[in-house]
Amino acid sequence: MRYLTFALTKGRLADKTMELLTKAGITCEEMEDKKTRKLIFVNEELKMKFFLAKGPDVPTYVEYGAADIGIVGKDTIMEEGRNIYEVLDLGFGKCRMCVCGPKEAEDCLKHHELIRVATKYPHIAKDYFYNKKNQTVEIIKLNGSIELAPIVGLSEVIVDIVETGSTLRENGLSVLEEVCPLSARMVVNRVSMRMENERITQLITDLNKVLREERDVI
Ligand code: PRP
Repeated sequence: MRYLTFALTKGRLADKTMELLTKAGITCEEMEDKKTRKLIFVNEELKMKFFLAKGPDVPTYVEYGAADIGIVGKDTIMEEGRNIYEVLDLGFGKCRMCVCGPKEAEDCLKHHELIRVATKYPHIAKDYFYNKKNQTVEIIKLNGSIELAPIVGLSEVIVDIVETGSTLRENGLSVLEEVCPLSARMVVNRVSMRMENERITQLITDLNKVLREERDVI
C-alpha cells in the first residue's frame, strides 16, 4: 500500500484538523511533539504522511500531487483557483468574506462608483465586483492588517475575512456586503481521487460520520 499524504494548513486549522482526524481513528503521534523541527510526520501503521504548509501553498501541493489530500480554508481555495476537488466542508474555521468599510462608503457601493478596494484576496474581490456586481473598481493588494486601509485613506472599502467582527468594531468599520461564507474544506488531488478512490472515499465517509455525530450533540 502506498502512503496517503496530507497537507495541513499550519496553525489553528492544523490543530482542529488533527482533532477531527483523531475522532475518525486517524492519529499521528509524531505530530504531538510541539517542539519538533521535523517537516513531515508519518503513521506507518496507517500508511499516512502529514506535513504542515502555509495556507496558500496547500492547494498547490495538492494540485501537483505532492499531497493527495489538503485541509485549507475556502477563502484560500477560491483565491488560488487550483485544479483540485473540494470534497468536504469540515465545519470549523467558520467566518465570512465581506466588503467592509466606514458607514459612509455604503453610498459609493450603491452608486457603483469607481472606488478603491484593499484586500489580501484580489481574485475574490475582482470576481465579486466585476462578475457578480458588474462594478468597476481598483483593487489594491495588501498582505495583512487590511482594516488599516480605509482608516488611513488608502481605499474606500476592503474585502476581508470577518470572524467575530471585533477588529472592525474596534476600528469604526462595519460589514457593508457579504461576499460568501467560509470554513475549512478538504481538497483532493484529481489523480489520487481515481487511484486511491477506496481509501479516500472511506475517509470522507468516516469524517462525515464524525461531523454528523458532532452536529447531533449540538
Ligand atoms: C483576520 C482578518 C481580520 C480579522 C478578523 O486577520 O483579516 O483582520 O482576522 O477577525 P475578527 O472578525 O474576529 O476580528 P488575521 O488575524 O488573520 O491577520 P492579518 O490582519 O494579518 O490578515
